[in-house]
Amino acid sequence: MDESKRTWVEADLIISGAGELITCARAGGTPGARSTLGVISGGAVAARAGRVVWVGKGEALQEEVRLIRGGQEVDADGRVVMPGLVECHSHLAFAGDRADEFQLRVAGSTYQEIAAAGGGIMSTVHATRAASDETLRALTRRRLDHFLRYGVTTVEAKSGYGLSQDQEIRLLEVYRDVSAAHSVDVVPTLLAGHAVPVEYTDRPDDYVKMVAKRMIPTAAKHHLAKFCDAFLEKGAFNTDQCRRILEAGLEYGLLPKLHGDQLSYGGGAELAAELGAVSVDHLDHVSDAGIAALAGAGGDKRVPVAVLLPGATFFLGVGGYAPARKLLDAGARVALSTDLNPGSSPTQNLWLMATMGGSQLGMTADEVVRAITIEAAAALALDDEVGSLEVGKKADILVLEETRTAEIPYRYGMNPVWRVYKEGRLVVKRDLAGEV
Ligand code: NIG
Ligand code: FE
Repeated sequence: MDESKRTWVEADLIISGAGELITCARAGGTPGARSTLGVISGGAVAARAGRVVWVGKGEALQEEVRLIRGGQEVDADGRVVMPGLVECHSHLAFAGDRADEFQLRVAGSTYQEIAAAGGGIMSTVHATRAASDETLRALTRRRLDHFLRYGVTTVEAKSGYGLSQDQEIRLLEVYRDVSAAHSVDVVPTLLAGHAVPVEYTDRPDDYVKMVAKRMIPTAAKHHLAKFCDAFLEKGAFNTDQCRRILEAGLEYGLLPKLHGDQLSYGGGAELAAELGAVSVDHLDHVSDAGIAALAGAGGDKRVPVAVLLPGATFFLGVGGYAPARKLLDAGARVALSTDLNPGSSPTQNLWLMATMGGSQLGMTADEVVRAITIEAAAALALDDEVGSLEVGKKADILVLEETRTAEIPYRYGMNPVWRVYKEGRLVVKRDLAGEV
């Protein structure tokens, strides 16, 4: 071939020598199509200006890709290379902790009893309201640092511990300010419908009205939230109240999400499907009709992604994990998330959720890896941007210590991250002592 006529793909970052390159690519590269794990053994990936420009077999790399001056080539040396993780459900900004509440539960109290006695979500609301802006920003930043070290490059972050006009907006502003200066992408959600605040105990409908008429319009006007969320549960909000909150959100361009069927069955999956929500989360007590709705039985509406949060089920210790197998076998899209929050799931280890996906939910390694990448991206309506290694997407790339996909959910409670690249830039380097 005439070298001068040759068209090269130019890259400023090449990661080659992957034992397994997990792409999570959509079948046939078609947008909207379901992803497969798309493993390329001996694969390589190239990026330029923060975007993926080439993915393929190591042997083709020399022929097709050229590193520009100043670019960097990294040898993965047989390690797994995969997309950055997407954390699609977190209650990131809160102050205080509920370690004592955990001990009350160990001694036999239930999550609902503690909440009814004024603890639970409301106790975190008190601590959060009392914290300064700078404290909340510092706590949020630190949690983002932790996520990044675990290989999470995109995080959904809910408000929900303010529960007043000013305090909910303040939490969303914390996300805006912190994310502007952090490598992790933060996707904000207004969760004003998290609990009925004490000020409204006897008139929850007035609170719902305030959320619909004041909070949602303010959040939308200042572009502070992409999603609107509500907690459908006894002791929180009923179907009608959740519908009013989420429909008001839709009116202002906030896409619906829903906490549903967590502690008891409440028709959450059905309501989410009816509203064309982006996701419905928890689903420990989803009904067969709800499963059918999430499998796409609802016609041409958007079908919500089922976001399963096994960490909350595990930590509350009540058993009854979400029926992941039934959901998957019926054809639903299933994502996994930590649900990071101080009450039901104070963890940031999304890899551990992948292990629980296997041991408690019966999901395969292929399914759990997709559930923390491309399916989680779909739960944020971001599957055209992140969650897979495909040309045009963000070059959010992990290199793991592991060498095979099957090891990812296997070595549980560990952090398998070796390197994290965010939009093509090295942001985390983890070497074991002795290697450095
Ligand atoms: O997703 N279910 C409601 N919200 C959280 C728990 C919040 C809390 O206990 O502070 C959840 O589990
Ligand atoms: Fe939650």
